[in-house]
This record gives sequence, C-alpha cells and structure tokens, in this order.
Amino acid sequence: MTRKKVLITGGAGFIGGNFVQYMINKSPSYDIFNLDLLTYAGDLTKHRDIESKKNYHFVKADIADRDIIISLFENEKFDYVVHFAAESHVDRSITDPGVFVKTNVLGTQVLLDAAKLVGVTKFVHVSTDEVYGELDFDPTTFFTEDTPLQPNSPYSASKASSDLLVRAYHETYGLPVNITRCSNNYGPYHFPEKLIPLTISRVLNNQKVPIYGDGKNIRDWLHVLDHCAAIDLVMHEGVNGEVYNIGGHNERTNLEVVKTIINTLGKSEDLIKFVKDRLGHDKRYAIDSTKLEKLGWKPTFTFETGIAQTIQWYLDNKEWWEQIISGKYQGYFEKQYNV
Ligand code: NAD
Ligand code: DAU
Repeated sequence: MTRKKVLITGGAGFIGGNFVQYMINKSPSYDIFNLDLLTYAGDLTKHRDIESKKNYHFVKADIADRDIIISLFENEKFDYVVHFAAESHVDRSITDPGVFVKTNVLGTQVLLDAAKLVGVTKFVHVSTDEVYGELDFDPTTFFTEDTPLQPNSPYSASKASSDLLVRAYHETYGLPVNITRCSNNYGPYHFPEKLIPLTISRVLNNQKVPIYGDGKNIRDWLHVLDHCAAIDLVMHEGVNGEVYNIGGHNERTNLEVVKTIINTLGKSEDLIKFVKDRLGHDKRYAIDSTKLEKLGWKPTFTFETGIAQTIQWYLDNKEWWEQIISGKYQGYFEKQYNV
C-alpha cells in the first residue's frame, strides 16, 4: 500500500496540534507534515513525544508565502491538505485586522492554488460557526449549513472570505474540497488568551478573570478531540464541495463557564471581574450538526466530562501553560483589561 502524505497547516496551534497527534496515533501509515509559521500562537513543545517519529515532519513556513508553498507542494505532492493555520483570536482582530486578511484570506488562496497545481485528493478547510454571525437567545434556533454568512468581526469576516474562496475553487476548478464550521473548542493545549484556558490559568494563580459585558453571551462548547474525529471523518467520507457544521449542543453562558471552573477548583467567585464589553460582541452561537451526524459522527464528551478532563489537564501540565504565559505572552491581560 502506498503511503499517503497529509499536510496539516497550523499544526503547532491548539486544534491543529491536537489533530497532528490524533493522526500520528491513529494512522501510522500516513506521513504527517505539520506546516506552521510559529506565530505567538504556535508552540512545538507540545509535540516532544512525537517529533522523533519517522512519519512526522515539521516545516516552518508562512502559508501566504507563495514561492515557498508552491515549491513545497511540487516536491511533496500531498494527497490531503487539512488547513487550520489562521489568526484565530477575535480580540486581536479588533485591534489589528490586517494580519487576519493576509493569513486567513491570502494564505488560504495560496494553499488552494498549490493544491490545485498538484491535484490533491481532498482539501479540508477548517472554518468556524462565527461566519454565520450571531443568534438571539431563543434556544430553539440554530446555525445550519444554509444559514446566510453574516460575519461580525474582522476575524469572522476573514474566515468567511476564505470559505468563499474554497467554495469558488470547487465550483470553478473542481477542486475536491470540504468546509467544516465548528463551534467553540476547548481541551488540552488551548492557548491561554481564550476564555476557558484563560480562566483556568488565572484562577490557579489567584488572579482576576475578566468577563466582558454582563457575561450572558452564549457559546456552544465542543471538546477538541471530538472536533478532530469530525475532521477525520470529513477528510475521508465528506462529499466533495459540501459544508459540514460541527457542534455538540453544549450551550453555556460565559458566566456559567467561568463559575464552573472556579467552583471545580474550589476558589472564590470574587475572582470574577466584569470589564468593558467586546466591540461587536456576538450574543449567541449554537450549531445544528445533523448533516455530519448522518455521515456517522457523534461527540463523545459532554461539557461536564470535557471540562473536568480539561481542568485536570491544566493542573497536570502547569509547566506548559506557565512557559507560554511567561514567554511571548507576558503581561497581555494586565495591559488589555487592567485586571
Ligand atoms: P491557534 O491560534 O491556536 O493556532 C493557529 C496556528 O496557526 C498557530 O500555530 C500559528 O503559528 C499558525 N499560523 C498563524 N499564521 C500562520 C501563517 N501565516 N502561516 C502558517 N502558520 C500560521 O488556532 P486554533 O484555535 O487552533 O484554530 C485553528 C483553526 O480552527 C482556525 O482556522 C480557526 O479559525 C478554526 N476554529 C477554531 C475554533 C476554536 O474554538 N479555537 C473553533 C472553530 C474553528
Ligand atoms: O465559535 C468558534 C470560535 O470560537 C473560533 O472561530 C475562534 O477562533 C475562537 O477564538 C472562539 O471565538 P470566541 O470569541 O467565541 O472565543 P473566546 O474564548 O475569545 O471568547 C469566548 C466568549 O468569552 C466570548 O463571548 C467572549 C468572552 N470572553 C472572552 C475572553 C478572552 C470574556 O468574557 N472574557 C475574556 O477574557
């Protein structure tokens, strides 16, 4: 059997990093190429246990660097591309939108050109439910794959733009693509600028946790390993050109999430500090993933089992998040929110 080559972009980040390890463990017959620029969000220490494996390769490169990306594809002739690399943090997109357009839009287009050139078997574009905009608080409404795109932040606008390019490369050139749109992830190696790892790390250090606005905004949480399994399924079974929503019906207000973490760690809710709201703050996300469930996916974690596992992981891996916080990331929150 010929070995397949899988290019995973953004494999030094949170979800891409979990997906690299998931694929290395699950599919030893695949050669896994992790391509990442190692921005502030990229970290390779998470791959210490796999970096010496014969089927793991790391390439440091910018997905928007056309010459390097084209020559890499010409040399390696990848069978699959699973594209995670992105600027991913909404708050950063509000203060500095330019890099989001460069990486998320231009970078995706360069990858699409390279994938077309060598004729990949599948290009999976990992997108987000944020491209649909926001829902109101009516619990019977959900995002489906047919919900119109109405992105509200520069981040989600850049992701929606990349989704449209991926769609166009399928319609125009017949590139075999899928787009996945997942809800909020959490789990091991989540970068501590995002709500859940931020809360866990700050509570463990007895620091205040900033909650934007009144804390009533709702997110639909999915454990990262359930997201990895969904992408694996789409990569192998997804119908070309189709979009698949991914979510596990775990809606919680931000305040509920933060209180759950504080109470699990046995700390005081006095650590909560309400701060100025995020600009353009989306009220509620909630995903209908019936289409993917029909393809054969279902989540394995409830929010309760997943958050307990995640809190334990942060307790067991203090060294990892402490080196991130004291490194490239030092002082970010104190500067941003005065907490
Ligand atoms: P992340 O910020 O943790 O990781 C992004 C990775 O991309 C980093 O390793 C970074 O170094 C790399 N990168 C950034 N710019 C690059 C460039 N120009 N060239 C090469 N590499 C570059 O992000 P994440 O949370 O793991 O998200 C991964 C993907 O999943 C993103 O596309 C995001 O839009 C999507 N997504 C995220 C969530 C979530 O809850 N985090 C949910 C749905 C979809
Ligand atoms: O829905 C999928 C998206 O989820 C992904 O596409 C994004 O890449 C990912 O970052 C995430 O976006 P959110 O903006 O929902 O995640 P974040 O963790 O930044 O915020 C979650 C909620 O918590 C949101 O309503 C804002 C709020 N929040 C966030 C931070 C960082 C706070 O109240 N305080 C905070 O300090």
